[in-house]
Amino acid sequence: MNIDLLKSAANTIVAKQKGVLAADESSPTIKKRFDSIKVESTEENRRRYREILFTAEGIERYIGGVILFDETLRQSTRDGTPFAKLLSNRGIVPGIKVDKGAKALALYPGNRVTEGLDGMRERLAEYKQLGARFAKWRAVIDIDERDIPSAFAIRANAHGLARYAALCQEIDLVPIVEPEVLMDGAHDIERCEAVTAQVLEAVFTELDAHRVVFDGMLLKPNMVIPGKKCPKQVSVQQVAEATLRCLRRYVPASVPGIVFLSGGQSAEDATDHLNAMNAMGSQPWQVSFSYGRALQAPVLAAWKGQEGNVTTAQKMLLKRCQLNGLARDGKYSRAMEQAA
Ligand code: 13P
Repeated sequence: MNIDLLKSAANTIVAKQKGVLAADESSPTIKKRFDSIKVESTEENRRRYREILFTAEGIERYIGGVILFDETLRQSTRDGTPFAKLLSNRGIVPGIKVDKGAKALALYPGNRVTEGLDGMRERLAEYKQLGARFAKWRAVIDIDERDIPSAFAIRANAHGLARYAALCQEIDLVPIVEPEVLMDGAHDIERCEAVTAQVLEAVFTELDAHRVVFDGMLLKPNMVIPGKKCPKQVSVQQVAEATLRCLRRYVPASVPGIVFLSGGQSAEDATDHLNAMNAMGSQPWQVSFSYGRALQAPVLAAWKGQEGNVTTAQKMLLKRCQLNGLARDGKYSRAMEQAA
């Protein structure tokens, strides 16, 4: 393990103003996104869409890393440049989603565990050879009124994340460790905070036991936020305060960066929350983003599968990147949504 290499890649990804574009939708997920704009999910359409994202002018000022899906890491631009090479040439670090998704946890109804460790060492070696410099594994924690999540499911997911992170660091790939407490459901912000605290505590205990070096990883957590169906919604400031309070208690200061997922928030809310956290002053780690939907939803809506819409779609991506870049400094305001 080369700690200096890991640290330097992690710091490049979360450099000033920068965050991550999560474009690692699995084939079933990208099909859902394409269905919403009535575009067929063929290999060529998926390739073309990713090419539109990765060639958008100016995004390298705000995007330090892009997460790719297995198929995408093997694809190229129309003129034959592999996507990983295109991104690297623009100063953007290419990464790869390596988990195989969340499955029902046997004998624990209602709980899920992420699979994908078998053959991981060999897969990581191949991804590295294809140009990936970091990886991502997502664990999913559901909240339900009943006794969900169980403490055991949290431990099982934390264990998987730590096994994955250790395998990454063994070959100098920066692990993005993503324990996502879902915002589906009717739970309130207090419940989200309590579960997120339990999850983060378990994750860092397991990472430590697996000898993962905190300086050479990034954490991709959920924000502390009420469930979408909770009747008691809260202010932007309350989300920012609860999230930072929780993270400061459980995330070691040696982690270089926190890159939040958007998890189903609107693009504007995700930017606003990130901004409010950065406006609260400097933290032990960079406070940044690794958004999928919150960066791409406006792009998909503008593109609609039409070549004539490509320039507008790319402008939408640059606009969201710019606004999140401002939010990295606490300099975004909602009024900028209209102006930009
Ligand atoms: P969202 O920002 O759409 O939640 O996606 C981020 C991600 O990579 C989830 O694994």
